[in-house]
Amino acid sequence: MTFVIANWKMNFSRDEAIEFCNIISSRIDYKANYLKQLIIAPPALYLSHLAQLFPKLQFASQDVSACMSTYGAYTGEISAAMLQSCGIKYSIIGHCERKLYHSETYEQSRLKIEYCIAHDILPIICFGENLNSRQNNNYLEELKKQIIEILPRLLNSPFILAYEPVWAIGTAIIPSITELNEVYEFVNTITMSIAQPMAIVYGGSVNSTNVCSIIKSTKYNGVLLGKASLDKDELIKIMESVL
Ligand code: PGA
Repeated sequence: MTFVIANWKMNFSRDEAIEFCNIISSRIDYKANYLKQLIIAPPALYLSHLAQLFPKLQFASQDVSACMSTYGAYTGEISAAMLQSCGIKYSIIGHCERKLYHSETYEQSRLKIEYCIAHDILPIICFGENLNSRQNNNYLEELKKQIIEILPRLLNSPFILAYEPVWAIGTAIIPSITELNEVYEFVNTITMSIAQPMAIVYGGSVNSTNVCSIIKSTKYNGVLLGKASLDKDELIKIMESVL
């Protein structure tokens, strides 16, 4: 299975989101694409409505509360139980923008993963080094640290890992195929002794021009899109180009 994960971030009005999903669901040929899984992560406010309107599409939340997994006095939070009650099956966890703008810690990401699993939500777990680590050549150590700190012990439920180098997000710069392959093999080795992900995807400046070489020349099982997922034609092209 190849995953295409569309992280809309804080974009689109409600009507624009509905129109987008209408077009995508009518233009994607589900029979021809049965080995590909498109997962759309809209703003949380639209999740429930979109999931009801488009039962053929899969939706993810962009985040989930680390306060608790069910219900409680946490103003502004959305729990894993609430997502589950709306039929949401996936959640992006630990995106670097959560860390950058909301100071999310590894401990919080780990809790979020545990809460998702407790509510049958498959976590899409982001990790990736910053430019400093890459330039100082200690990125592998950094990635190992992140993975070990984020992944809950004895994780025996399915999860997806998303390698998202911070320096590649929104910059139009992507790692070389050699760099991508190095990280894939490294992560595979580390996770072997902890828990095996069902897929490792790559995210950071992916578009319809570079997606083919990422998928064909590496072992990544899909891509996580930001900007490219806001353009229907671009998203459909990407869906058509992945294996
Ligand atoms: P980008 O974002 O595709 O716009 O670089 C990717 C991401 O934030 O996951």
